Amino acid sequence: MNVQSPALEATAVREPAKRDISESTQRAATTTLLDPRFYTTDFDEMDRIDVTPVRAEWDEMLAKMKADPNKTHFKKDETWDPVDWDGMEPELKKELTDFLVSSLTAEFSGCVLYKEMKRRGNNPDICELFNYMARDEARHAGFINDALREAGIAVNLGFLTKAKKYTYFRPKFIYYATYLSEKIGYARYITIYRHLEKHPEHRIHPIFKWFEKWCNDEFSHGEAFALLMKTDPKLTNGFVNKLWIRFFLVAVFSVMCIRDHARPAFHKALGIDIDWYDREVLQKTSDISRQIFPITIDLQNPRWERGVTRLRHASNDMAHARARGGIGGMLGRISAGTRAGLAFASLYLMPVKHHTPPADPRMEPSY
Ligand SMILES: [Fe+2]
Ligand SMILES: [Fe+2]
Repeated sequence: MNVQSPALEATAVREPAKRDISESTQRAATTTLLDPRFYTTDFDEMDRIDVTPVRAEWDEMLAKMKADPNKTHFKKDETWDPVDWDGMEPELKKELTDFLVSSLTAEFSGCVLYKEMKRRGNNPDICELFNYMARDEARHAGFINDALREAGIAVNLGFLTKAKKYTYFRPKFIYYATYLSEKIGYARYITIYRHLEKHPEHRIHPIFKWFEKWCNDEFSHGEAFALLMKTDPKLTNGFVNKLWIRFFLVAVFSVMCIRDHARPAFHKALGIDIDWYDREVLQKTSDISRQIFPITIDLQNPRWERGVTRLRHASNDMAHARARGGIGGMLGRISAGTRAGLAFASLYLMPVKHHTPPADPRMEPSY
């Protein structure tokens, strides 16, 4: 295993003194179990991928990315309505900010990983793909940061690149995790967009108007990882891989539900019922993931929502215990941690649905 620490271009940025770091930057740099992470991997192994088995589909996909359909999309225009940050109810302001900072961190995480792969690689197919995807994610992160700048709380991305912890995943796990986060990102953005299309009175920020074309980028990034996995059947077949895919499905899906429930004021202002939204997003992601994964979680099984609710309560209790500190806090953390572990295990052990993914995994955004 070749664990490497990224040496990124942004490290040339002067490190600001701690007192210069805004609260939003510190928030983005924090990595708990539930926060978006920065990843590093064995870039040499990824560079050895041979796309020959999917050459025709690959060339078609890269031609689409090269054409850059969203080249001019991420610019504010006259439809960017002003946001009354000062008049906003404090709890909503806190949760909207948290949503934007968390989305920015997730977007920038992709940018950092893809840029590093492009920088280290020698394989022209892989370098070209990661160049396009880093381009897109840099735009996405920059656009969110513009929105935060308006509120006077832009995140210092240079600082973030250096201060944030990097999690090492071997390439196979990067494919599982990144594929899922791209497709879930698509499903989240399009679900919010379609809801606000019907209920524009709930559009509390103009950035949501940009989500329709935006989510197509995320969809195509997910397509890229599906094709990468298709280059080698050993990546998704077999007993052990299915156990790992199941792990990533349960982890990514349940963490999303916990994080969404932590923003009640934000979802209320959007007119979104969180349970409905999470069901919609997970069902869309699960249906899409059949393109490449041989198993899906049975989201209709009542054990799923029951287990996620138990996990969410345990996670809340854990946060409270951590804040309380002392012996009481420590005991509270042990108790909540045990409950969280049992809830996760019960979700993991739910029966899954098995199926055979199609020979050609490609899909078009259809929601
Ligand atoms: Fe993105
Ligand atoms: Fe993406």
